[in-house]
Amino acid sequence: MNDLVTIKEIQEDPLRIATLCYLPVPGDGRDKTLVTFRPLLARDARRLGQYFLGLSDETRRRYGPHPFDQATADMLCAELNYAQTLRMLATLDLEEAEQVIAYFILVLGVLERDAARYARLAIPLAPDTDCTLAPSVADAFQSRGLGSLMMEHLIRVAVRLGRKRMVLMGGTQATNARAIHFYQKHGFRKVGEFEKPPGFNNYDMILEF
Ligand SMILES: CC(C)(COP(=O)(O)OP(=O)(O)OC[C@H]1O[C@@H](n2cnc3c(N)ncnc32)[C@H](O)[C@@H]1OP(=O)(O)O)[C@@H](O)C(=O)NCCC(=O)NCCS
Repeated sequence: MNDLVTIKEIQEDPLRIATLCYLPVPGDGRDKTLVTFRPLLARDARRLGQYFLGLSDETRRRYGPHPFDQATADMLCAELNYAQTLRMLATLDLEEAEQVIAYFILVLGVLERDAARYARLAIPLAPDTDCTLAPSVADAFQSRGLGSLMMEHLIRVAVRLGRKRMVLMGGTQATNARAIHFYQKHGFRKVGEFEKPPGFNNYDMILEF
């Protein structure tokens, strides 16, 4: 299937890579919640800030691509650059207001510090065809299948953009059993280990499409 999409097309219409899906509600197999996956838009600053401020200490301990405050949300929404980074949201409509329940960063390229580690592993990263992932799901929605639905969508988007591999931003903590299971389930394989900070082990994991 030739379903390629270009950055220019996403810039012209970000909702081109949006989709709807149903998240099963625990306890009742028949009940479902309608969730939207879509890129971050300039108008999302307030709801993204609410998402950041709502993250628990435990989630922040596992996930730290940038500070989680309103000022950062304002900055990210003011400086959207789809050619460099896609910030995908999962949202649901709650009492007529749209609420963010997941936030996945997909850098269209590689970060220098990740590339340096992969070079030491003799796996040179390719900025033009690799991409870099940092996923998070709101605490109340973790382990309910939302991350997997969003991951499947994001992999499709990355493939449509012509990307060939996906790596983890800053790896994943060796103690983050759920994340490791999650990545393996979606086809990532562990290719290396590194200590950061000293005494804390992390894994580098890569997915080849
Ligand atoms: C990691 C994260 C993005 C995954 O999203 P999610 O919506 O929770 O993931 P899903 O519910 O789709 O899948 C989680 C899987 O882990 C499994 N799991 C849950 N707890 C687990 C544990 N302690 N050990 C191993 N596996 C576990 C679930 O059973 C499920 O696997 P299954 O589908 O095979 O049953 C989300 O949990 C999160 O944001 N965690 C906190 C931040 C974080 O760790 N980010 C990643 C940093 S590298």
